[in-house]
Amino acid sequence: MQNIILIGPMGSGKTTVGKQLAKRLRLDFVDSDHMIEERCGVSISTIFDIEGEDGFRKRETKMLSELCERAGVVLATGGGAITSEENRILLRKGYVIYLKTSIETQLARTQKNQNRPLLENVDAESKLVELMSERGVLYEQEADLIVVSGDRIVSKVVDEIIEAMDR
Ligand code: S3P
Repeated sequence: MQNIILIGPMGSGKTTVGKQLAKRLRLDFVDSDHMIEERCGVSISTIFDIEGEDGFRKRETKMLSELCERAGVVLATGGGAITSEENRILLRKGYVIYLKTSIETQLARTQKNQNRPLLENVDAESKLVELMSERGVLYEQEADLIVVSGDRIVSKVVDEIIEAMDR
């Protein structure tokens, strides 16, 4: 079975939707960022502090290539995973779902969690807008399925994904 890959920006609900989707489909759920943190024993923010974004991206590519070797998993990726061609090739092996969301929802969700180094010490809203203008096309281009996640009830988003995959 093909892996199910969730892509989308920070705060689009990849982890929350991914966990429920995996449960419904009786698959394992894996989150690339959490796996990197587990492997390194420190937070994503600490990795950015010590190794910079470049260091984090190298670890992310290594982790994605490892996780894409697995079969039958629901994989939540980090918001920037699609910026590298090497990663895009890896992710295309799976069924790619883009969780599309508004900047307002992203802002509300990311404010609850401090572990987002790209949003530290900057105006979060402007940064999210800037990232979306660079990455929006890539998310659309890589997606086999686009689902509006926004602030909808998670189970409804999962229902829509399962229905679309059945078709
Ligand atoms: C990033 C998104 C984060 C994490 C890192 C960089 C990005 O993941 O990978 O902070 O470049 O958009 P989430 O999308 O899970 O927040």
